Amino acid sequence: MSDRQSSLCGKFHPTASKAVLVCASVLIIGMATANAGPREQAKRIHDRLAGVPPSNSVLDDMAAAIATNPTSGLYDAATMAMENPEFYNVTLKNWVTPWTNEEQSVFAPLNDYTATVIGMVRDGVPFNTLLSADILYVGTDPRLPAYSMDDNRHYEVMEELDINLKDDLEYKNQSEITTLPPEATSGVLTTRAAARAFFVDGTNRAMFRFTMLNHLCNDLEQVKDPTRSSDRIRQDVSRSPGGDSRLFFNNCASCHTGMDPLAQAYAYYDYDYPEGDMEGGRIVYTANAVQPKYLINSTVFKDGYVTPDDHWDNYWRKGQNSLLGWDDSLPGSGSGAKSMGEELANSEAFAQCQAKKVFRAVCLRVPGDAADRAQVTAMTDNFKASNYNLKGVFADAAVYCAGE
Ligand code: HEC
Repeated sequence: MSDRQSSLCGKFHPTASKAVLVCASVLIIGMATANAGPREQAKRIHDRLAGVPPSNSVLDDMAAAIATNPTSGLYDAATMAMENPEFYNVTLKNWVTPWTNEEQSVFAPLNDYTATVIGMVRDGVPFNTLLSADILYVGTDPRLPAYSMDDNRHYEVMEELDINLKDDLEYKNQSEITTLPPEATSGVLTTRAAARAFFVDGTNRAMFRFTMLNHLCNDLEQVKDPTRSSDRIRQDVSRSPGGDSRLFFNNCASCHTGMDPLAQAYAYYDYDYPEGDMEGGRIVYTANAVQPKYLINSTVFKDGYVTPDDHWDNYWRKGQNSLLGWDDSLPGSGSGAKSMGEELANSEAFAQCQAKKVFRAVCLRVPGDAADRAQVTAMTDNFKASNYNLKGVFADAAVYCAGE
């Protein structure tokens, strides 16, 4: 019985016998309105996951599963709903696309980042390898142009041909079909689409910022910590912006102290494009050679840090950002994007962020009240306990939000 029911009962019906009677009827009415039948529940679960109504035969199967076992049957029904190709072609595509461009727009073509996430979900690839694995999903249809490092045609044609992503995606090693050596691969971060969006121009801090935003659900503003050492802040950051060194310590340093030693992991990457043709570029990796973008504007603060290699350190393991829940079994430092991707993707914040994003996509709202937040915690725990199988998170959310 909920608190509200019991307090209402207590208030209006002080004598025990009446209270029991009235409360009982409140409960029954509550159950009658909240308790949809198996077919109703099946329909809602299907709609939440696939965005379309089920066929009659799928609806029958789902409803039968629910009727047979009101608890585990709901999960079985969710699993059936995820067999619908629309779960991959529409629900997952729309879920992932905003992570793959700076504008966070859902209106962008399929690309190698999106397809790789969709493939990983389909195959139950442990999702905590998202930012580190040597992985890339490509289409199998013979009509497709081959995967190219220089354009996105392979994936755009997949959409033009309305390829079924559930059946026609296959796992590859990134290092097999690109020029990246295996040790330079870093999951979706070294896909062409991510490089186009976040290694383009700038100082590669954008890759770090958007990875934090998209996969740890924290923008830099939320992880500001002015108490870390500023010894790794690059030369391009003024130590007295507008002539005011306090601004550096109170503001600039609070992001750059933690970010710069982590973003150093990307020191050998760039996105090279022909003059005037940003879409026509490709990811480049220069082993043991720091990209010039790490050394620009060196006269802004000559005593700033000069990046010698791709060694990274996580200063946020101490201080307030220890709350992001770093994995104690990892060292907290290393060289290159791959080990830094492992550092990020094995944090509690990463697991919780995936659960929150799934909740939003399936329940069509942000987790609000205490019950929603407890649900996100449960989804996060199940996610980790299942070796980071994301399909289970979608099933958990669909069951929770499909009504009792
Ligand atoms: C909220 C966190 C945050 C704060 C505060 C902050 N920065 Fe940054 N800074 C970033 C991020 C993120 C980037 C990468 C931006 C991008 O490329 O998209 C960046 C990039 C830069 C760059 C490289 C510019 C470029 O062209 O890419 C410089 C220089 C810089 N910041 C200086 C400063 C200075 C000086 C201050 C204080 C006045 C400051 N930052 C405050 C997060 C921060």
